[in-house]
Amino acid sequence: MINFNKVSKVYPNGVQALKDVSLKIEQGEFVAIIGLSGAGKSTLLRTINRMHDISSGSLTVNGHEVNKLNGKALRRFRRKIGMVFQSFNLVPRITVIKNVLTSRVPDLPLWKSLIGLYSKQDKIIALEALDKVGILEKAYIRADQLSGGQQQRVALARTLAQNPEIILADEPVAALDPVTAGQVMDDFKRINKEMNISVIINIHHVDLALKYAERVVGIRAGEIIYDGPATEVTEEILTQIYGRKISEDELMGA
Ligand SMILES: Nc1ncnc2c1ncn2[C@@H]1O[C@H](COP(=O)(O)OP(=O)(O)OP(=O)(O)O)[C@@H](O)[C@H]1O
Ligand SMILES: [Mg+2]
Repeated sequence: MINFNKVSKVYPNGVQALKDVSLKIEQGEFVAIIGLSGAGKSTLLRTINRMHDISSGSLTVNGHEVNKLNGKALRRFRRKIGMVFQSFNLVPRITVIKNVLTSRVPDLPLWKSLIGLYSKQDKIIALEALDKVGILEKAYIRADQLSGGQQQRVALARTLAQNPEIILADEPVAALDPVTAGQVMDDFKRINKEMNISVIINIHHVDLALKYAERVVGIRAGEIIYDGPATEVTEEILTQIYGRKISEDELMGA
């Protein structure tokens, strides 16, 4: 379980990105976080694996007080949390399988991982991860020769290969066309259901958030405005989250 208890985050420049956020997420939930640009979505996500420290309140993840983790314990903790970004963050000139393998030995310097110091077992795990996202046949193709949707699947396979309990995804479909975005969301959903991995996604396509997530958290200026079932999100709630009525185009992530 992820448990935010009155968490605030103030950046060194004085910007308060989170204000008294209280939020509990159980293992296996699929949660979409929505809100305007600058609302604090990325900050919220990045406190979970301690890419950002919180300023006050308490945050525990599966019983670990996140702010108290250091060194080896922090690295071990982060192994259980996968992260996917808008820009895929693959190494372009190496094969898909090598990209996936980089998450198997996270402490290996990149140059060593490029030479390929992996066990057979690691390779099997990487191939299985690619199979789970439906691109096993691309394993030996260079990453930069894939489409955006395929590259995001590789990024997803890379996090799966580290055997995570939680996947944090920061705008994972923002760079994709609507059809491809839906397909990648299908992958997230399937992984969430079949493997019971918690998925927390920042997403500005409200339509996709409502279609795929069971639970929606709406934040505005660092505060949670709505937290409840996707099926109960009304136009009025969206107006509260976004501070104004949002158009049909914005609903579709335009
Ligand atoms: N490293 C940082 N240092 C200082 N201020 C920051 C930093 N990161 C974010 N902020 C500020 O904190 C607030 C929340 O930013 P955050 O990136 O969490 O929003 P967001 O909801 O993810 O926005 P977007 O939809 O544009 O990605 C904003 O006012 C932003 O300018
Ligand atoms: Mg963001």
